[in-house]
Amino acid sequence: MENTKKQREQKKMNALNINEEGITIHGKAGFEGMRKAGKLGAQTLDMITPHVQPGVTTDELDKLCFDFITKNGAIPAPLNYGGEGDRPPFPKSICTSINNVVCHGIPCDKKLMNGDVLNIDVTVIVDGWHGDTSRMFFVGNKPSVMAKRLVTTTYDCMMAGIEQVKPGGSLRDVGRAIQDMAEKARFGVVREFCGHGLGQVFHAAPSVLHYDDPYTTTIFEPGMFFTIEPMINVGTWKTKMLNDKWTAVTKDKKLSAQFEHSLAVTEDGFEIFTLSPKGWTKPPYD
Ligand code: MF3
Ligand code: CO
Ligand code: CO
Repeated sequence: MENTKKQREQKKMNALNINEEGITIHGKAGFEGMRKAGKLGAQTLDMITPHVQPGVTTDELDKLCFDFITKNGAIPAPLNYGGEGDRPPFPKSICTSINNVVCHGIPCDKKLMNGDVLNIDVTVIVDGWHGDTSRMFFVGNKPSVMAKRLVTTTYDCMMAGIEQVKPGGSLRDVGRAIQDMAEKARFGVVREFCGHGLGQVFHAAPSVLHYDDPYTTTIFEPGMFFTIEPMINVGTWKTKMLNDKWTAVTKDKKLSAQFEHSLAVTEDGFEIFTLSPKGWTKPPYD
C-alpha cells in the first residue's frame, strides 16, 4: 500500500504506530502514561534513599519498595519477570547490585556495609506503562576515591548519552558518546547488557548499546521511548553470570556502577520521564 503524505499524517494523529524497524512510535496518551510511571519510579528511589544505611538488608529495601509501589496502585515489574528455560523468574521487586555486581542483583538477607556502593533499579507499571530507573548509592560516609570517581563518571556517561537524543539524530551517537567518556576515564563499558525500548512492554526494540556499534543505524523519531542505562566498570568490561542465572558480576571482581533513565524523543530533543521530584541526581543525596 502506498504510504501517502495523508496516511503518514493520519498515523501521526493516532495514539500509536510501529515503524519499519519494529519500534513503536507513541502519541499523547503514551507520553501521559509514561510521565506518571516515570514519576512513580523516581519517587520510589527518592523514598528508599534515606533507608540506604549500613546494617540494612537488601531484603528490607525490597520490602519497602514493594509496599510503596503497591500502595500507589502500581506493580513492581521485576517480580516474577522473565523466567524461561533454566532461568527462574526474578524473585523480588527491585534489583540491588552491590560493588562488583554489574546488574540484576537479587535482594537478600545480607546487610549493607559502610563503604559499599549500591545500585537500586526500580521498574513500576502504572496503568500498563513502565517507568524504569536506577541510581547509585554510597553506603555510609566513606566511599573510596575510586568509587566516587566511578559513580560520577557513570552518571556523566548516562547524561552524555541522553544529550545525543533528538529527532533526526542517530542512536549510534548515544553509544559513542558514552564509550568516549568512559574510556577517557580509563573505565570499561559493559557490552552484554543494554538499554531498551519500553512503554506498555518492559523490554522492546530498539536495543540501546552503550558503546559504538556500526550496525546501529536507527534514526530517532519523536515518540520513541527507551532507556539509557550504562554499566561502567573500573576494570575489564567483561562480566560473568552467577549460578542464580540473574546476578551479573565483573569478571575481575572490580567495582561496577550504573544509572538509568527512561526517556522519549520529542519534537525538539528529549524528555526524561524518571527525573527525581527531589532533584536528586547522583550521590551524595542531601
Ligand atoms: N530494570 C532492569 C532494566 O533496566 C531489568 C530488571 S529485570 C529483572 O532493564 F528481572 F532482573 F528484574
Ligand atoms: Co532498563
Ligand atoms: Co532498570
